[in-house]
Amino acid sequence: GFVIGSAVAGGGHHLEQPYPDPFTSDRPYRKQLAREFSSVSPENQMKWEYIHPERDRYDFAMADRIVAFAERNRQAVRGHTLLWHSQNPAWLEEGGFSPAELREILREHITTVVGRYAGRVQQWDVANEVFDDTGALRTRDNIWLRELGPGIIADAFRWAHEADPSAELFLNDYNVEDIGAKSDAYYALVQDLLAQGVPVHGFSAQAHLSTEYPFPSGLEDNLRRFAELGLATAITELDVRMNLPESGVPTRAQLAEQARYYRQALTACLNVTGCDSFTIWGFTDKYSWVPVFFSGQGAATVMWDDFTRKPAYHALRSAL
Ligand code: XIL
Repeated sequence: GFVIGSAVAGGGHHLEQPYPDPFTSDRPYRKQLAREFSSVSPENQMKWEYIHPERDRYDFAMADRIVAFAERNRQAVRGHTLLWHSQNPAWLEEGGFSPAELREILREHITTVVGRYAGRVQQWDVANEVFDDTGALRTRDNIWLRELGPGIIADAFRWAHEADPSAELFLNDYNVEDIGAKSDAYYALVQDLLAQGVPVHGFSAQAHLSTEYPFPSGLEDNLRRFAELGLATAITELDVRMNLPESGVPTRAQLAEQARYYRQALTACLNVTGCDSFTIWGFTDKYSWVPVFFSGQGAATVMWDDFTRKPAYHALRSAL
């Protein structure tokens, strides 16, 4: 039941120019995606701003195509994401809605989107990044938490479960790989949700790592403590970025170090019962979000632009 996945570059912020949409236009890319992976995650196409661009209009075109691709290739799908502070459309963020309206908007969205793909999405990131790095709920920048309070998290899980009782419902975040204030906050939240009978099934670490920082050595123990609460766990967005030298080309030592991080992340997951889904955030540097979001950094994925394999690719293979 173990799946190894990749984000699908179906167009999005960092690729708007000059690529129309790699998933559609880059055939060798699709071939690799089909051949190398047993799970896919739409990188952007199930986010609010893409799938729900106007209050009364959904755009399922790309998400539908990605899900159909996954089915043809016998791949699982990770749905991403339903309740988040980022990549929300302006109509939502600036709409001046009352709390009652917002609650209904969220309920309707979750029911519609999760319902559309019911039975076809293995795991949903229901709540994404609800805590800041200190372990405090994002009550300022997350519209749902700010306007509706923390109880909306439980509601989101209940609505998602109603819409697709077979999907595994996750809390997902970055900087929660190690045991610390932020992952402790999730640990407490999970206990609280479980005590209330909320259908929360999984906790996942994005794992946007960098060789400039030590590998999060507590990853395995951290995943295990969530498993012991009865949750599934997953790695959902692994990449390992590095500061690029002047030439733009990473050194052999950097690539070896990166490979070590990839292998350690996979090994941690494999060592934990119930960590059955391991996803990298794109498989080729050609379309990686990293250089756009972290200036001076890059080379974060397992393949070069021409899809030749880096040491990190071989490290994952050999750890499987
Ligand atoms: C990123 C995408 O890769 C970019 O294309 C987009 O412009 C911004 O979002 N955490 C998440 C992902 O949960 O959705 C983010 O993806 C990366 C960080």
